[in-house]
Amino acid sequence: MRPTDMAQANIRQTDFGSGAELAEALAKKIADRLSAAIAGRGQATLAVSGGSTPKALFVALSKLDIKWSKVTVTLVDERMVGPDHERSNHRLASLYLLQNRAAEARFLPLFNRAGDADAVAAAAAQKIDALALPFDVVVLGMGTDGHTASFFPGGSTLADVTDPACPQSVMAIEAPGAGEPRLTLTLPRIVDAGLIVLHIEGDEKQSVLARALADGPVAQMPVRAVLRQAKTQVEIYWAP
Ligand code: 6PG
Repeated sequence: MRPTDMAQANIRQTDFGSGAELAEALAKKIADRLSAAIAGRGQATLAVSGGSTPKALFVALSKLDIKWSKVTVTLVDERMVGPDHERSNHRLASLYLLQNRAAEARFLPLFNRAGDADAVAAAAAQKIDALALPFDVVVLGMGTDGHTASFFPGGSTLADVTDPACPQSVMAIEAPGAGEPRLTLTLPRIVDAGLIVLHIEGDEKQSVLARALADGPVAQMPVRAVLRQAKTQVEIYWAP
């Protein structure tokens, strides 16, 4: 078995009694990290994932009193749809996170009208690269197929987006389980973040994680790319 297929992960898992309890605790951890970055260099960057899991976290985070005007929020990945589309992660972030005190944050979308998916990804990458990288906080979810971000099994550019040396910060990817074509941060942007959180809920995802932590190819369960390459400990937050 090739070394990249061997399981090694630097993780710490914290379990909570409920999603609400997890949301409060994780929101505070993220807020503390962002405030420390602002204190240290006058600004902070946060990349969040879409899906259904993070909604309660977003609401809890939006209410915390930090210097949101110094925070840039962007997305870990986005569907190739406009911000008004019901499947837009930009729309999700606007509805649940960029509210209350967090309404003062700067938001950097991945979707744009630059052209085809590759042109859109290239334009988004330019904006991401203009940020003060690495990200202070990246919040990931995970699908039951073992994808994270838009690193989907069978993805058209999966080898590129999960390459630790990928030269691009954002790429387009299409995959059987992804619906629309997607835009995704690539592995280097995720694994060099100061705080990497994998937020999962439910017993099914706990068992998917256990499989992902075992030996096997990244291509089979692409979340393995993050678990095995993260330069800092991956903080796993789980609730039933
Ligand atoms: C997306 C997300 C994706 C998500 C997982 C889990 O755009 O869909 O970024 O990576 O985190 O699919 O989604 P749920 O939280 O809905 O299970």
